[in-house]
Amino acid sequence: MSTTQDKIKQFAQHTFGTWNRQNAWKSPLLIKDAKGVCFYDDKGKEYIDFSSMLICSSLGHKNQTIIEAIVKQAEKLPYIAPGFVSEVAMEAMEAIQSMMPKGLNKFFFSTSGTEANDGALIMTRQSQAPRYKIISRYHSFHGATPSGMAFTGDPRRIPTERARYTVEGVHFAPDCYCYRCPFGKTYPECDVQCAKYVDYMIKEDGNVAAMIVEPVVGTNGRIVPPPEYFPMLRKICDENDVLLIADEVMTGWFRTGKAFAMDHWDVVPDIMTTAKGCTSAYTPVGITAANDKVANFFEDEMFCHGHTYAYHALCLSAIPPAIAEYKRLNDSGVIQEGSEHLKNELYKLADRHECIGDVRGIGHLWGFELVKNRKTKEAFNVKEDKITGAPLMTAKVSGECMKNGLYIVPWYDNLVLAPPLIITKEEIDKSIHILDKALTVADQEVESTGIAVSRSAEFSSTD
Ligand SMILES: Cc1ncc(COP(=O)(O)O)c(C=O)c1O
Repeated sequence: MSTTQDKIKQFAQHTFGTWNRQNAWKSPLLIKDAKGVCFYDDKGKEYIDFSSMLICSSLGHKNQTIIEAIVKQAEKLPYIAPGFVSEVAMEAMEAIQSMMPKGLNKFFFSTSGTEANDGALIMTRQSQAPRYKIISRYHSFHGATPSGMAFTGDPRRIPTERARYTVEGVHFAPDCYCYRCPFGKTYPECDVQCAKYVDYMIKEDGNVAAMIVEPVVGTNGRIVPPPEYFPMLRKICDENDVLLIADEVMTGWFRTGKAFAMDHWDVVPDIMTTAKGCTSAYTPVGITAANDKVANFFEDEMFCHGHTYAYHALCLSAIPPAIAEYKRLNDSGVIQEGSEHLKNELYKLADRHECIGDVRGIGHLWGFELVKNRKTKEAFNVKEDKITGAPLMTAKVSGECMKNGLYIVPWYDNLVLAPPLIITKEEIDKSIHILDKALTVADQEVESTGIAVSRSAEFSSTD
């Protein structure tokens, strides 16, 4: 008889581990249960989920209202081809309309964030033809299909560069990354060069159809832009007749404290994509939302896009109860209280640990960028390390956290601190205590400078 460990090994042997060298995918942790902000392995050990899994389980685990809605839909009508309409699809659309920024009136429903961005690409390239170029940014992730990867600036693009060439014409603009400004400048004296340079790119390059941005950079650093950045980009896009696409796959649904991150700057994109939080990951859904300018193009032109699982009834059934939960949590102040406490505690932690070079974020979406030396900002790890598989300091810290019952996703240079929106102050305190201890592993390899931590997120605290 094979043991559980044997079965896990068998599973790993016969499946591809995602974003991993397969020799590191030998014995994944078996998870048996999850409730609220915690999950449990097969030995019954509890872990606090401080990254909301992949920054998607925003309402925590085992939300009964959402589960009941899914079960009801499974019994009633799990699937109907996208050429028909189901009652649940109409309900989901109405719920989404009640949250969307004014002006985004037409939607396409798929089953992932990547597909939502594929939809945005099709809408852009068809409606903006013959212009076809897309501007993205280096600190970005937009998905795993060839088009998602083509838009992506992070290290995962590099080994898949060939796939990128199947989607030509993607160019990368400088990031609004104040901690390591690509222009070597300091805000506000910089005059927001990172936005101004986009205008130069569009005019010099020609044939630019759209710019795609994560309003707050997610995986690649929780980079919050200066307040002028998005109003400036909106103006530049309008003046050049370039579409602005906001990828709110991670930042949507109150992750940053407002329904959508773009709401912080009162900027409405031409196309918005979202996924993850729209169902809190209970079912897979991606949404591409377009304004009238984009949508009207397709009145007399074929919308050359669709999937077997587009408008999937079972998947969409999680949307209305999830949105009702977000509204309830927002109206009762739970989200705001949690994020304020989280921010204060993270700042205190950053003051105590010299390995933290920069602390930044907004709402329930934060990051610590780890450095060897606060003065020189020398990093423990760089982009190439993610590709070559070099040991990462962030992974070492998150490994220590796991040992003590705290799950934190490590990126190559930063830790993803993004718990579910339902996390309580006590659960935050417990998590901070574990993280506090784990960070000493990195502190031991730091060159002491006596310099205070950088707080490049300060402009986010005005809202
Ligand atoms: C900003 C952003 N866009 C797109 C995606 C891709 O979404 P999915 O993994 O659902 O395909 C992600 C995933 O993490 C993301 O963070």
